[in-house]
Amino acid sequence: MYVVTKLTRFARKPLPDKWTAITATTGSAVGGLRRRLAKANTLKNRIRRSFAHARAENLEFNSGLGDSAELLYALTRSIKPTTCVEIGSACGKSACYIGMALKENGFGRLFAIDPHSPTGWNDPGPVDSLEAFRANVAALGVDEQIMIVRSTSQQAAQGWDRQIDLLFIDGDHTYEGVKRDWELFNPHVRPFGIVVFHDTAWELPPFCDRDYARADMGVPRFVDELRRQGYPVLTINKDFGFTLVQTVRGGCPLWQPPEGAQTTDGDLRTPSAPQSREEVRSAKAAGFYRV
Ligand SMILES: C[S@@+](CC[C@H](N)C(=O)[O-])C[C@H]1O[C@@H](n2cnc3c(N)ncnc32)[C@H](O)[C@@H]1O
Repeated sequence: MYVVTKLTRFARKPLPDKWTAITATTGSAVGGLRRRLAKANTLKNRIRRSFAHARAENLEFNSGLGDSAELLYALTRSIKPTTCVEIGSACGKSACYIGMALKENGFGRLFAIDPHSPTGWNDPGPVDSLEAFRANVAALGVDEQIMIVRSTSQQAAQGWDRQIDLLFIDGDHTYEGVKRDWELFNPHVRPFGIVVFHDTAWELPPFCDRDYARADMGVPRFVDELRRQGYPVLTINKDFGFTLVQTVRGGCPLWQPPEGAQTTDGDLRTPSAPQSREEVRSAKAAGFYRV
């Protein structure tokens, strides 16, 4: 009955009104369809994501990274990096979690650097971890996101010229080794980029009490030096220590006092958030930073 009334009303309308009614109805139908498709897509992506994570949880990584891999995943989803670099891949736990996030982002690449040979810092399991790494990457379908670089960080740094958004340092854990990796790659990290170190809390309980403590472990000492030099350092004391470092001493300024405002000693002054190392350098030269 309702349909008949509607159709009769429609038939009585003058031609231009009929046309308006037709376009309004089809327009809202198309809009509704679009919204439904978008919802279905979101649901499909969520299901895909859950499957990928479930699959990753069941892979053999022989890794000490634990649930901190989820932090790498979340950071990558959040900052939407174009270029990520990892030093020390082993069987690929960290790489695969970054890779899964890059895949969901729809762009970005991880350069996963590791010689996959005896280095003194191999995790338990096969020392030639390349085959296991490749198998894990393939199982998660992240081959396009991860560029495997079979070399030491020193070799990979030669001629490196890309700006880096996310740098994960988990290779040579001696003091000299971790310092060298920071010095090689940190100059390429964008001001708002993030450097992540693993194994930073070995000197703290409960990790220092464990049997596998090593005298040549130098990551905590080096990262603490960065903290004392004024780099923003945030450590989560889980999974042997997971630390985020911002690459500008004192942190990237976030606020500019209005022109002519009285500033106190504690105010950081910069014309705007710096976008490149050159901008950081010139802001420093102009006295905008306290470092
Ligand atoms: C602790 S494992 C990495 C674990 C991995 N990130 C994970 O999520 O499971 C350390 C790795 O660093 C690699 N490594 C040691 N020295 C290196 C160097 N100079 N350059 C690159 N990788 C290095 C070792 O071969 C080893 O596979």
